[in-house]
Amino acid sequence: MENKLFTVAIIGAGSRGADAYGTLINKDREKFKIVSICDVRQERLDRFGELFEVEKSELFTDEDAFFTKKRADLLIIATQDADHFRHALKAFELGYDVLLEKPLTDKIEECEALLAAQKKYGVKAMVCHVLRYAPAYIKLAELLKSGIIGRLIGMNVIEGVTYWHQAHSYVRGNWRSSKTSTPMILAKCCHDLDLIQYYAGSPCKSVSSIGSLSFFKKECAPENSTERCVDCPHINDCPYSAKAVYVDRWEIARHVDMWPYNVVTTAPVTKEKLEEAIKTGPYGKCVFRCDNDVVDNQIVMMDFENGVKAELTMTGFSAGRRYHLYGTHGQLVLDSKELKVDVFGKPDKSYVLPLAEINEKGHAHGGGDAKLINALYGILCGDTPADTSLTASIESHLIGILAEKSRLENGKPYKVH
Ligand SMILES: NC(=O)c1ccc[n+]([C@@H]2O[C@H](COP(=O)([O-])OP(=O)(O)OC[C@H]3O[C@@H](n4cnc5c(N)ncnc54)[C@H](O)[C@@H]3O)[C@@H](O)[C@H]2O)c1
Repeated sequence: MENKLFTVAIIGAGSRGADAYGTLINKDREKFKIVSICDVRQERLDRFGELFEVEKSELFTDEDAFFTKKRADLLIIATQDADHFRHALKAFELGYDVLLEKPLTDKIEECEALLAAQKKYGVKAMVCHVLRYAPAYIKLAELLKSGIIGRLIGMNVIEGVTYWHQAHSYVRGNWRSSKTSTPMILAKCCHDLDLIQYYAGSPCKSVSSIGSLSFFKKECAPENSTERCVDCPHINDCPYSAKAVYVDRWEIARHVDMWPYNVVTTAPVTKEKLEEAIKTGPYGKCVFRCDNDVVDNQIVMMDFENGVKAELTMTGFSAGRRYHLYGTHGQLVLDSKELKVDVFGKPDKSYVLPLAEINEKGHAHGGGDAKLINALYGILCGDTPADTSLTASIESHLIGILAEKSRLENGKPYKVH
């Protein structure tokens, strides 16, 4: 039987929209054809318009011109956080099915408006919670469902952002300011909140949170440090120096032409371009002297209606995720190296699975990005809603929005349902 072919438009041809999803979709020409792109950066339009073979008349720098009519079956919305709500509403009104980047919004009333619009226009929507499609997290869900650890009692989750990623995105980069971006707990942890509520298997009853910006601020700057790393006496000993984070790491990573280097400068990345970018651009600023105000550490506590309790720690000072699930008959621990199954008193049923045996080697999010695109095709072809439907995603967004409200009020608990 022949595959059904879906036409695709992209708004926001950046790291996610073009480098990740666009590139994956473009490889599968029997199922998808990219026919239109909108991005405010002409350079991205030129590059990906040519790569994806899009007609020049279907390349737009102006979103109003792009949204004058429906241009494809599916619209991928991968613009910045503050644009998702506006672009999703316009897409629903035009009758697009939508693949929508997270976070959706940081306002409860906008979550409700999105759900109402989706229902009104009868369109499909899938939210890019890529970890739900990543093999290791699917395996965790399967083990939980199998009953091997009995009834789930609680969860302890750590999202270690990694020190240079914290500096890149949340101190120097696009997600540094609460004025222009969603709160850190949504921007960085909405995949974790989504997974936690999915594993808990019940609506969240209440949430509370504490957190702060404790390090990346002027008072913590080393003596004699300067506005730009290139002029700073600490350039070779500060782990956050732009030289260490970009130029040195790029060399160690054998000159890869990908994130975060292609955010700091334009592709193809070269050492000279990186050195120029840190001399003049935003990614060369001292991490203690940026206009950032988002947190670098936060803890969220959740109580679910079925009695499951969960704690999520987000920290900029550790690397990788760690999921520890406690059951009545055992525990599951997933970190960046392995998945440990410990069944109480049953060593024959307990084992350790290296992640390399679960994940797809060399694929983003352990294979989650590619599996999300496969699932997307199934959703477009059929009638079943996505695992990461708008309704499911909004559950975790509510937790995140109320967690931030709680944090701003020193941990005051909030009812979610
Ligand atoms: N699902 C995930 O795992 C994951 C990972 C990283 C980022 N994200 C999310 O994806 C989104 C995009 O992130 P990114 O890293 O690709 O950022 P990016 O800056 O690389 O891409 C955003 C693109 O949108 C374009 N743009 C901005 N305003 C526009 C407008 N009005 N109309 C059209 N184009 C416009 C920019 O020029 C840019 O090319 C963010 O909301 C981010 O939070 C999700």
